[in-house]
Amino acid sequence: MTKLWAGRTEAETAKLADDFNSSIAFDSRMAKQDITGSMAHAAMLGAKGIISEAEAAALIDGLQGILDDLSAGALSIDPQAEDIHMFVEAVLTERLGDVGKKLHTARSRNDQVALDFRMYLRGEIDGITALTKTLAAVLCDKAEEYKAAIMPGYTHLQRAQPITFGHQLMAYAMMLLRDLSRLGDCRRRLNLSPIGCCALAGTTYDTDREMEAAALGFDGICLNSIDGVSDRDFAAELCAALSIEMMHLSRLSEELILWSSWEFQFIELPDAYTTGSSIMPQKKNPDMAELVRGKTGRVYGDLMGILTVLKGLPLAYNKDMQEDKEGVFDACDTARMCLEVMAGMLPGMKARTDRMLRAASEGFINATDLADYLVMKGLPFRSAYKISGALVKQCIREGKTLETLSLEEYKQASALIEEDVYTHIDLSTCVNKRVSAGGTSVQSVEKQIAAVRAALEATP
Ligand code: ARG
Repeated sequence: MTKLWAGRTEAETAKLADDFNSSIAFDSRMAKQDITGSMAHAAMLGAKGIISEAEAAALIDGLQGILDDLSAGALSIDPQAEDIHMFVEAVLTERLGDVGKKLHTARSRNDQVALDFRMYLRGEIDGITALTKTLAAVLCDKAEEYKAAIMPGYTHLQRAQPITFGHQLMAYAMMLLRDLSRLGDCRRRLNLSPIGCCALAGTTYDTDREMEAAALGFDGICLNSIDGVSDRDFAAELCAALSIEMMHLSRLSEELILWSSWEFQFIELPDAYTTGSSIMPQKKNPDMAELVRGKTGRVYGDLMGILTVLKGLPLAYNKDMQEDKEGVFDACDTARMCLEVMAGMLPGMKARTDRMLRAASEGFINATDLADYLVMKGLPFRSAYKISGALVKQCIREGKTLETLSLEEYKQASALIEEDVYTHIDLSTCVNKRVSAGGTSVQSVEKQIAAVRAALEATP
């Protein structure tokens, strides 16, 4: 096939070189963005008199035809093409003749690819934002369902203080709110149009970049043409935001795996989202959560990939930059799938609230509350802490819990302790006394749920 860029060289490129050079296998994803971008470009060329209005109309019509044929399956992408930009232009010229050759006036593939990539990723951000909102809403619903379910809260994976399952779930909803904000930031910085930067230095034609930017839904234009064609910060930034979001999903996955283990039995994951073992009949494996945890690694890899491609690249465009896409596409695909699976799985998750409560009752999780009780009776916290610690020690020695110590035994430790100690160390008292903002009480968790729901409502 003769290259659209043939002219400077005499000999044909080697087949091996063509194959190595080609990006059509992955950049054909951006076909729609490439065509819409070209339509806006043609319209601008016509409006500015760089080509005639009739030529602009013919180009737009031809491009629309290609878009329609591609979506109807009447036109298929030629895997031999060098890239999506060359493919669309070649089909257009084949269909329209000479006028097709006018489309590439006052632009270059360098600004064209930057434009397509930004538009494509903008759509990805919007899709991932919507999925993140769905998952956050699912977490709020689950938290509502289990806002009074007492479980042990952990530090160092040791039982620490009683919390509610709803409170723990809302911690993840908060993470997703930050993810949404990061995605929003990334979208804002991404949403400037590079088209019109041309190869790197701008153009001698009297173009209107603002017009193209506005037609394509951008908030403005890249102000330096060299930067406009070289900048891939938006891709790295998106991978960074997705890496952090995946890290959150991975931490949640880890807990789901742990909680659904026979040792914990805090939750049961829905059958539709678990698998069995080919050899061990008793097993119900949390594969989905494990895969989300595992796939987090590949998104981190995608981030490292794009950063490494960009590191050390001189300005402006270099062919290395063709390597910017696959990893970023993979990061988006992976994040999307993981969010969908999580949002599909969590509504069917059932908490074994009896098991949670029992675990919370076994680990002297109310020792802090016993200390606080003594503080209330007038002891300084450090002294109260010592007495509570000694009582825990005594319980462990004698196989008791704080709830089962007699008042006499309590009195031996401190004369300040009275009958009301039992209500103070009761787990539901412990939870519901924690009314401090952001705390674990039902009332506080309800506030958190309302705040997240309102924030989701306000996120476009
Ligand atoms: N396929 C190329 C890429 O993805 C398009 C830009 C080509 N530009 C060039 N000057 N060869 O980067």
